[in-house]
Amino acid sequence: MISSAQSFSFRLIRLQRSWFRAVATVLLACCATAGAAQQTAAIASAHPLASAAGHDTLKRGGNAFDAAVAVAAALAVVEPYSSGLGGGGFFLMHRATDGREIMVDARETAPAAVAREHYFDSSGRPLSGASTRGGTAAAIPGIPAALAHMAQRYGRLPLGDSLAPAVRYARGGFAVDARYARIASLREHFLQDNAKTAKAFLDHGRAPASGFLLRQPELASTLELIAREGRNGFYAGHVAQALVAAVNAAGGAWRAADLEHYRIVEREPVRFTYRGATITAAALPSAGGIALAQSLGMLERFEMSDVSRPDTAHLVIEALRRAFQDRALYLGDSDFVSVPVARLIGRDYTKQLAATIDPAAAARSDAIEGERTLSGNTTHFSVIDAEGNRVAATLSINGLFGAGIVAAGTGVLLNNEMDDFTLHPAVPNLYGLRGGVANAIAPGKRPLSSMTPTFVEDDKGVLILGAPGGSRIISQVLLTVLEYLRSPSVDLQRLVAMPRYHHQYWPDRVEIEPEGFTLEWRAALTARGHQIHMVNRQWGNMQAVFRSKITGEAQAASDPRGTDVGGY
Ligand code: GLY
Repeated sequence: MISSAQSFSFRLIRLQRSWFRAVATVLLACCATAGAAQQTAAIASAHPLASAAGHDTLKRGGNAFDAAVAVAAALAVVEPYSSGLGGGGFFLMHRATDGREIMVDARETAPAAVAREHYFDSSGRPLSGASTRGGTAAAIPGIPAALAHMAQRYGRLPLGDSLAPAVRYARGGFAVDARYARIASLREHFLQDNAKTAKAFLDHGRAPASGFLLRQPELASTLELIAREGRNGFYAGHVAQALVAAVNAAGGAWRAADLEHYRIVEREPVRFTYRGATITAAALPSAGGIALAQSLGMLERFEMSDVSRPDTAHLVIEALRRAFQDRALYLGDSDFVSVPVARLIGRDYTKQLAATIDPAAAARSDAIEGERTLSGNTTHFSVIDAEGNRVAATLSINGLFGAGIVAAGTGVLLNNEMDDFTLHPAVPNLYGLRGGVANAIAPGKRPLSSMTPTFVEDDKGVLILGAPGGSRIISQVLLTVLEYLRSPSVDLQRLVAMPRYHHQYWPDRVEIEPEGFTLEWRAALTARGHQIHMVNRQWGNMQAVFRSKITGEAQAASDPRGTDVGGY
């Protein structure tokens, strides 16, 4: 039976009745087809329309890779504040026929003309907002190239078929949900700053109310152009010209050649074992797979219980502290800097790191406290098809509504992913992350990411997961993997809903969600020397799929946080 994310079913009831009927029919037809084949498929994404696009694509004979193209393109339309054609991401893929696992790296790249004076004044002080808004914030997008590549190399359907649902949503419009309305309201002034952006995402200059029909005809035309011409529909011709003009009018320094030369890269994922399970996760330029491998490598040395127990939480926090320290010291785009990945995730090294963990007391990160500025956004979806092909994709435009630039006539909203570079070791990014020279800006380089699309395989089955949340993606995935592997049975909905805590070396504090941690829990961590910082909202929007090796049944679960703006 095909499962879909719970959010898929429960959010549907909020939509118009006629639309609900249409989607429900598609879902039932899918179920009948998959059931007959004694196989199962499942999709979990952040939006019911995106999950529906994926189901529709599977139903028409597509595989998980076609479905991933359909879901990613649909999310670009219906969740424009999170990801889109103007952004990038990582598609972790498993091909059932030969077991091949690769990561399609669609991370954005710095433009060739990037210069220090774009981000610093003449006395060397960082220019406020230079990496988060306007033309200097935007890096060269990777998503359109990835969609074309995946359809052509791994899919079964023509690109246009998989893009069709997204075109439909963009041209016909979709009813914005409460989450859209609240995020647009949060970013109303930012969106109002650019007339084209305001026109694309606001209702007569104001944040729309839930239920407002958002139409994006220009984005529909751009998607159709990509459907006809493949990557050239975006990286050449009038769309490319409009993108360059829009970025440069907003203070950036793009050239047509930056777009022409953009290439996705197929990379070997990070692969390792933890207590008998095989884990496959994002490679550089994401720090996610390395941080996960390091953290689990350290934790394998300890007896672990439920991750919510203070003694185990202390160990997880200390492992994260050390993994994030290495992120800051060593990690960057491996096409530009030499990163000793094998050593960093090797057993000798993680054993040494584990030996520095005191089970009774917190270490100190050598840093000064600081506040984060603004939470960013990203999206994740997980897919498995009836044959066992699978995709875990985490996609982003970075901050909510990215750089806030929509290029004329294209409907394409550009990312602010330049902020993921380290501008200066003393300047934290949007997520409070510091870094070093390995992640310094350079022409054509990809900024370091925390996106962690992940597969976990053990005796129970295969888990496909990931989440948005900037640096907190890594701790979300870590906590979920630990709990999944600890439990003899799988309660997927519990796994995506678990209360979250996070540490990232700097600032030296344990961030916790406002719910789920008792006074006793906090006191136990404080007694070990941790500084607890309760964040005023929950974070993440995990999307997970699990297929049992025992029954063959697939299930999907969406984070309950995704129903509200609190989930970003
Ligand atoms: N833009 C967030 C990340 O890649 O980590």
